[in-house]
Amino acid sequence: MNKTGSLIAVTLLAGGAFAGTAQADKLTLYCSAQEDWCQLMSRTFEETTGIKVNMTRKSSGETFAQIKAESSNPKGDVWWGGTGDPHLQAAEEGLTMSYMSPMRDQLHDWAISQAESADNKTIGIYSGALGYGYNTDLLAANGLSEPACWKDLLKPEYKGHVQMANPNSSGTAYTTLASMVQLFGEDEGFEFMKGLHANINQYTKSGSAPIKAAGRGENTIGIVFMHDAVKQAVNGFPIKVVAPCEGTGYEIGSMSIIDGARNEDEAKAFYDWALSADAQALALQVNAFQVPSNTAAPTSESAPDMSTIKLIDYDFTKYGSSSERKRLLQKWDEDVSTLPQ
Ligand code: G6P
Repeated sequence: MNKTGSLIAVTLLAGGAFAGTAQADKLTLYCSAQEDWCQLMSRTFEETTGIKVNMTRKSSGETFAQIKAESSNPKGDVWWGGTGDPHLQAAEEGLTMSYMSPMRDQLHDWAISQAESADNKTIGIYSGALGYGYNTDLLAANGLSEPACWKDLLKPEYKGHVQMANPNSSGTAYTTLASMVQLFGEDEGFEFMKGLHANINQYTKSGSAPIKAAGRGENTIGIVFMHDAVKQAVNGFPIKVVAPCEGTGYEIGSMSIIDGARNEDEAKAFYDWALSADAQALALQVNAFQVPSNTAAPTSESAPDMSTIKLIDYDFTKYGSSSERKRLLQKWDEDVSTLPQ
């Protein structure tokens, strides 16, 4: 048996409640990464352990809201993927439980810092920088100049050509909002979001939808994580990926076990497995180009090179706190989303 297999066996055997109860071999997984990656993770975990996975994909903010709504009668076991801020908020609000995985010593420091800042109620599974991508054919067909900076996106020529997700539902879009506030300061950051609003053709529910639409030729510029734009380019669509000139924010994609999980042993088995290099290597099968948190997991040559991107020192503790996330979202709802376009 390989290391991962034996680890899972040990974890499962250690769970007394699990042993011999056939009907307990199941796991309810809330997934906030890309749909195809969520499916591959579920299927492979099922094949590796025999534990049946019931998986639902929803965006990060939506999943947070669902876990909160279900907190008096939790239905989910593990929340895997999605931006770290709502995972941190869930930890602060007691919606997720502390767990010290035996896999922790295989992880990058940034993954452990995320855990340590949240009483070990969450942990980093990947990271990725925010940026945008555009459809080069559509840009040329519309006679538009090539954007290179965040502030370029405010130019009137891009009216109706920019798409991003709604920061209430999407972790990607919340990362965008929080990044602009950190990059430009709160007042200027909100002025930026207001100016951007004038050019937005649609706020989608899911974070990566704007670049998928650009890939299909239904939208010109999509504000997304750079790895989501790279995926479209690697899939053969005419997408150019931009690391904005002013610098940018990033995510620590995270994982948490839901407090009161009905299948706690299976949840821990999934958690340990998802931190292994083997499980994280699955990302490459679905062109998910995030940086994996396991130091031994492979990365692709196509993945954005984080060392060449000007990253801000994103304050996860502040922007993942319940009060700040609520405050910024409310301010965006009131001051930005209501403006005419
Ligand atoms: C995509 C990205 C992930 C990110 C997720 C957040 O799937 O590949 O890196 O964590 O979006 O999704 P959301 O829909 O909440 O923006």
